Formats: sequence, C-alpha cells, structure tokens
Amino acid sequence: MAECIAQKYYLTTFGCQMNFHDSEHAAGILEKIGYRRTATPEEADIILLNTCCVRENAENRLYGHLGNLKPLKDKNPELIIGVGGCMAQLPSVQEKIRESFPYIDLLFGAFNLHQLPELIARVKQTQSRILELPPEREIQEDLPVVREESWRAWVTVIYGCNNFCSYCIVPYVRGREQSRRPEKIIAEIEGLAGQGVKEVTLLGQNVNSYGLDFPAGERIDFADLLGMVSAVKGIRRIRFQTSHPKDLSDKLIRRMAEGGPICEHLHLPVQAGSNRILAAMNRKYTREHYLSLVEKLRAAIPGIALTTDLIVGFPGEEEEDFQDTLDLVEQVGFDAAFTFAFSPRVGTKAATMENQVPEEVKMDRLYRLIEVVNRLAKEANQRLEGRIETILVEGPSEKNPEFYAGRTRSNKLVLFAPKHPGPELAGVEVKVKITKGLAYTLKGEEIE
Ligand code: SAM
Ligand code: SF4
Ligand code: F3S
Repeated sequence: MAECIAQKYYLTTFGCQMNFHDSEHAAGILEKIGYRRTATPEEADIILLNTCCVRENAENRLYGHLGNLKPLKDKNPELIIGVGGCMAQLPSVQEKIRESFPYIDLLFGAFNLHQLPELIARVKQTQSRILELPPEREIQEDLPVVREESWRAWVTVIYGCNNFCSYCIVPYVRGREQSRRPEKIIAEIEGLAGQGVKEVTLLGQNVNSYGLDFPAGERIDFADLLGMVSAVKGIRRIRFQTSHPKDLSDKLIRRMAEGGPICEHLHLPVQAGSNRILAAMNRKYTREHYLSLVEKLRAAIPGIALTTDLIVGFPGEEEEDFQDTLDLVEQVGFDAAFTFAFSPRVGTKAATMENQVPEEVKMDRLYRLIEVVNRLAKEANQRLEGRIETILVEGPSEKNPEFYAGRTRSNKLVLFAPKHPGPELAGVEVKVKITKGLAYTLKGEEIE
C-alpha cells in the first residue's frame, strides 16, 4: 500500500513585521491543506518567498534568490515556486518575472493569501503559470495562522497607508488604509489570551489612523481600541507600531500614561531633523512639533523608551540639514534607531527629485549617524544599571545559550543566566537586576 507522505513547504520572509505576520497566515493556510514545513528548500514541494520592496537593493537580492532556486526546479519539475508580498505588487517586477524567470509559477499578494489553495491547485492542474494579482483588496478575516511563538503574537489592526511620504513605496503596494473591525480584533486577542499569549503587538503602517475610515457614527480611534485591548484578561503587555508623529494625539498619550498592560515604549519615526527635508518628505510635521511630542510623552509616561527611524541622504539634503538630524537625535537621546540611506524607489516622488545625494556622501552620513545613535543608546542603557526590571523571557540567546533573553516593558533586550533554565521559561516574567548597559542589549542577574 502506498504510504501517504505529506507535501512540504519552504517559506521565507523579508521586510517588516506585517510581512512576517502575513507569512504566519500563509503557513496556516498551507498547513490546513496538508503541507508540512521544511527548513530546507531542497526538500520542498512548494517554495514561497514573501518579499519586501521598501529599498532598491531588495529587488536585486530577490532576483539573486530566484536564480539560486533554478537548479531545484531543474531537478524537480513538479516543484512550485511562488513570489508574494510587496514586491509581487510591482508591475515592473511582475514583468521581469514573466520574462526572465520562466520557472516561477505563481505571484500572490497580501490580500489574496486566502486564495493560495485554489491557486496552487490551478498551477498543478493546468501546469501553467499564474502571474496576475486580483485588483480587489478586501480584508480577509479568520484566516488560519501558525504563530512562531506561543506566548507572543502580532495582531494587525489597520492595513495600508494613506500618507504618501515622498520616498516611500508602501502606499503603492499595500493600498489605502483599511481598519479592521474592533470586535474582530478583540475576539482575536481574547482567543490568543485563552491560548496563553501574554504579549500582543498591534500592527499597522500607521496605527494612529486607526478607525478614521469607519463611518462617522461608528468611529472609534486608536486610543479607544487600546483601552478595549487593555481590558482583555490575561494580556500582560501591549505594544504597537508604527505611530506617525502627525497623528499622535494627546488622547493617545493619556491612554498610554494609564499604563496597565500598555508598555512604556513608543516607536515614533522622525526620519529627519531638518524642517526643509521633512517638508520635502511630505511628513506633515516640523522638528519643533516632534520635540514637543517627546516632551509631552516624557512628562506623561516616566521611563518611556523612544525609538525611531531615520533616513540620510534624501534628495537635496545638505550637510546643514544632516546636522539638524544629528542635533535632533542628540536632543531626544533615542533608546534605539533604525538608520537608512535614502534609496530611490521608482514610482515615488523623491526618486525623480533633483539634487540626488551621491552614494559616498550618503554612506558617510549614515556612519556618522550610527555612531551618534549607538553612543546615545549605550548611555540610555547605562542609566538603567542597578535597576530592577521585570522582563518577559523569550528563550535561550542564540549566540550563547547559557544566557536567556527577555525584554523589559520598555522593549530592551536583557541577557541573563536563569536560575531554572528550560523551555517552560519562555513567556514567563522574571525580575532581574540590570548589571550592565551596552549599545544594543542589557546584562542582568535574576533576583528571585
Ligand atoms: N509606516 C512607518 C512610518 O511611518 O515610518 C514605517 C514604514 S517603512 C516600512 C520603515 C522605514 O523604512 C521608514 O520609517 C523609513 O525610515 C524607511 N524607508 C522607507 N522608504 C525608504 C526609502 N525609499 N529609502 C530609505 N529608507 C526608507
Ligand atoms: Fe511609508 Fe510614510 Fe506610509 Fe510609513 S507613513 S508606510 S513611511 S508612506
Ligand atoms: Fe517592505 Fe512591504 Fe513591509 S515594502 S517594509 S514588506 S509593507
């Protein structure tokens, strides 16, 4: 009798947390139709790449990855290879895959993940390629999901973005803002709490726009939603990202100040410190406004950690503008920052602006910025030395498994040698005394 061997899928993801969360849904959908995950593409019957296109080099990297998959397809013509996510939404990429990568069978987007079973079946039955993405972008609720961790979960609250920052491709590939219904969000989080999840991160390109697209009579905003999530029993920590400074309301700051499960951390991308550049970026706030927000946040929420995103080398950025960025970074003293060199994305306004900054100038500014960011991060971490912090344990550190990693409420990674190591420690809160602050991590000693 022929043994029924489960088909295997290999799934790899690039990009932001929203993309990683989409991949958790893709995994759930594939497992529901009988596929099992494999960590090696060589073993797979289907390979899916969930891609990001926020920076230009990602596109070249994708083509490199696709090239590497060709020998696998040559060896096994039954193998299905699919490309999904933001890159797959770009007409230029669709074209390139159609023309130059004849062994790619399938393109899919974040909004048609639910169709994966049907698309895979059609590719198998017809032995033809499916490279068209559907135009509709409706939120699909109740999709299967396989989450990476049992104690922490991502929950999308709003899809898309309406902001059109002049450098950014995201609104073109992710579409306009669509908020999920609050009752759906709360039902999902109640379900997660019931399964033992302790921490949720609410996701959206701009969570502060949550609810603006609901009909007038049904409006609730992000602060209201946070209040509702705070009331879910069993959820010990609530995080959210990303917040746009132009939409950060006093009401939200007051809600954060109520604390409870809402963590003392805010990721508030500033991008640049020069008003001229902020205007050219279409960010719709000034450095003064940003600094006033920082002041309000620090006054209302003692110990809040502030992190940010920064871009150097935006078209027209002069040394003086860059100095404004360094100055703002010094003034705020961020706990951490993601730093990027401006990358022109075809289709965005900034890609065709005059005065593009030479690559070597961008790189020079990037390194100078990283130095300042790291110094300030280390100083902020050193200020915590001697303090007792409650951390939520993640598990053994990858580099040195004798040490375990956990996060403070302010989202700082702490490494410590646990008194009772073991897998059951993941998702447990322990108290540690911070012994050393470094640029990216803290070291601590368990005290109970
Ligand atoms: N929605 C978030 C926000 O409002 O900032 C983040 C979106 S984006 C996925 C993450 C970060 O990538 C941005 O904050 C920005 O710093 C950076 N980024 C986006 N487009 C970029 C580009 N063309 N070049 C360099 N960095 C870019
Ligand atoms: Fe991109 Fe700006 Fe939207 Fe963030 S807010 S996703 S940076 S357009
Ligand atoms: Fe990349 Fe798409 Fe996220 S472009 S950063 S994966 S929204």
